[in-house]
Amino acid sequence: VQIDKAGHRHFMAKEIHEQPTVSTYALAHYVDAATGLIRSEAEAVDFAQVDRLVLVACGTGHYACAIAKYWFERIARLPVECDIASEFRYREPPLSGRDAAVFVSQSGETADTLAALRYAAPHVGHVLSVVNVAESSIARESQIVLPILAGPEIGVASTKAFTSQLVTLGALAILAARQRGAIDEDEERRLVRILSEAPRKLSEAIACAPEIEAAAITLAEARDVLYLGRGPLFPLAMEGALKLKEISYIHAEGYASGELKHGPIALVDSSVPVVVLAPRDGLFEKTISNMQEVMARGGRIVLFTDAAGAEAAAEGAARVVVMPDCDPFIAPIVYAAPAQLLAYYAAAFLGKDVDQPRNLAKSVTVE
Ligand code: G6P
Repeated sequence: VQIDKAGHRHFMAKEIHEQPTVSTYALAHYVDAATGLIRSEAEAVDFAQVDRLVLVACGTGHYACAIAKYWFERIARLPVECDIASEFRYREPPLSGRDAAVFVSQSGETADTLAALRYAAPHVGHVLSVVNVAESSIARESQIVLPILAGPEIGVASTKAFTSQLVTLGALAILAARQRGAIDEDEERRLVRILSEAPRKLSEAIACAPEIEAAAITLAEARDVLYLGRGPLFPLAMEGALKLKEISYIHAEGYASGELKHGPIALVDSSVPVVVLAPRDGLFEKTISNMQEVMARGGRIVLFTDAAGAEAAAEGAARVVVMPDCDPFIAPIVYAAPAQLLAYYAAAFLGKDVDQPRNLAKSVTVE
């Protein structure tokens, strides 16, 4: 296949803009259009017999797992352990036959993730992988392979693979919930409908590109940037910070909003932009009160929220980008696109090599 930039300046921009299309491939694979229910290779696992899910990955895949932990716990009432592969493989964590382990990897070749799989395989009841490259080592050594079908990803910083990993893990959480009796068929259909809205909402979020670009230019002057979120938007805050440091070389950290006062607030002054990811969900008021603590110390807020959130809390923020309304379930998927674009525009503005950032490799096949 001929892979080009399809009119974009960089592969990363092309891959960000592809997400509304590419995420439909995973949906088409995991949703049975006739019934509106999940169908999956993972139906071979009986999640009612699973006591714990172990999610292992590196980099961006790890943040997809960290978001999915919220879904598995909330929707399927399934306990989750979530770890980075380089720690997991050497920690000798106790595992049991009633654990199911899921290894998430775009390339399917990351050395630490493969080693973690090999450590876990003899001990756990089920070995699943969530991969983009179906002919990869991690896929070959798994009992069950869940493809994300995102197509070749060229930009070193992962974007479309992340949102397709999330769609795939979201579908798996719904399946696990069904098998565990945590949801009935009507609720399954409702959740599937919400997950199926992700492509359209991603496209609406990407349409905010001009405002995101304007916000990114204000970040480009900063030395440090903080990202804040709560619930599943907390791991997304870490992913947003990772994207920014990977390609713009600006130091950035993602924090749980509630941890702000336990350290990072000491960094805040008028030179530190603080990116707040805050859809108007059940935790909105809490995040906004954290945001106000930042503003009181002169911090410059870049707020991503929906229309209701903007109406309630935009005052005093340096920038507000109004995201489409969406169900809280898919908010971490929808808000991923602006987090990616923010990093992209900051790096492009600074003239950095967006697709090939220094010192990084697309696939880390050595330890
Ligand atoms: C590298 C890439 C990241 C990726 C990570 C894990 O660090 O630059 O974008 O998230 O590896 O890769 P994997 O292929 O296992 O998802």
